[in-house]
Amino acid sequence: MKFDLLIENVNIATMVGDDYGILESHDIGVNGGKIAYLAPTPTPTPTKQWVTPGLIDCHTHLVYAGNRATEFEARLGGDTYQQIAQRGGGILSTVAATRAASEEELTLSAQKRLNQLLVEGVTTVEVKSGYGLDLESEAKMLQVAAGLKGSNIRRTLLAAHAIPAEFRGDSDGFVDVVCNSIIPELAHECDAVDAFCEGIAFSLTQTQQVFDAAKRYGIPIKLHADQLSDLGGAGLAARNQALSADHVEYTSEASVEEMQNSGTVAVLLPGAFYFLRETQKPPIELFRQYGVPMAIATDHNPGSSPCLSLLLCMNMACVLFGLSPLEALRGVTTNAAQALGLREDIGTIELGKRADLAVFDIVHPRDLSSKFGVNPCSGRYLNGIKQPD
Ligand code: NIG
Ligand code: FE
Repeated sequence: MKFDLLIENVNIATMVGDDYGILESHDIGVNGGKIAYLAPTPTPTPTKQWVTPGLIDCHTHLVYAGNRATEFEARLGGDTYQQIAQRGGGILSTVAATRAASEEELTLSAQKRLNQLLVEGVTTVEVKSGYGLDLESEAKMLQVAAGLKGSNIRRTLLAAHAIPAEFRGDSDGFVDVVCNSIIPELAHECDAVDAFCEGIAFSLTQTQQVFDAAKRYGIPIKLHADQLSDLGGAGLAARNQALSADHVEYTSEASVEEMQNSGTVAVLLPGAFYFLRETQKPPIELFRQYGVPMAIATDHNPGSSPCLSLLLCMNMACVLFGLSPLEALRGVTTNAAQALGLREDIGTIELGKRADLAVFDIVHPRDLSSKFGVNPCSGRYLNGIKQPD
């Protein structure tokens, strides 16, 4: 048989089924960018090369300008994330810097960050807007995201991220602009619509308005839910068949129950939990009991999670939240694919799936979560094409 690409004699964590779906000493054949052949190596030799589905970072804010290190210092001095936001810092300080930055500047800095994520075996990255908060600047952010190289990019419109200075005291007025101008204008420039449902951001009613606007244009939805308090955001997301509810530290059992069978993925963001020194952990045991799929992402952003290592986030999800290494790997493969609505295309190694693959020098796939500050990735394939190191 002839293939565009044949990877020989590797151990595979297919992530098909309830376990890692391990296939030892197998060959992988690729045709037309898709996995076309999976079979035992005819004359195998011992190998420490493992192939997994390309890792998926399903929640990032990779495009922005500015620097928020002074807020880190302020928090160490006792200020809270909410206090900093209320005095006009936080997200709004990044909005000012991002509005002022050119597309070229934003592209250069975002590409550098993306490259750092990719070297760990990441092949798909979700990138949110949300530091523009007006039509022109949100469009600029999505444009920059579209131009990033080296991975599959999914773009999420997060215009309802914060109330911009020009709408201070008139959040309903801003939601009106989001629903009746920004979403309609940018509907063809994004794969999903997201919002920040929180005391310091948008209410449940306002979030529902954003969801309704997205639905009018047939755009899937996601939600920053229950990060700092329990407004019932994850339940709202589930009732609206959202792809995911993200953060979910304060999510109640009633909301978890609503997520059951909704298809809505709980996206855990341990980087933000760690960096904001939060103590309220997401209800992992309830997610397990109710069969809610859990994904893990970096949430890379300059304020709450300036982290560019998905492997570190897997380790944090285990150490801080109690996930197993198997749950962690599923969280950056199959379940992350589901959180992006891409379950049919990526996230497992199966015939017909896209040949987005990561190669690791490890003893067993549990090693991906059981170390930190270590990068065992030795190769990446995107649509069956070997990527430069
Ligand atoms: O996912 N929670 C809201 N949004 C981001 C933080 C954005 C920022 O602080 O710049 C998050 O944590
Ligand atoms: Fe986020």
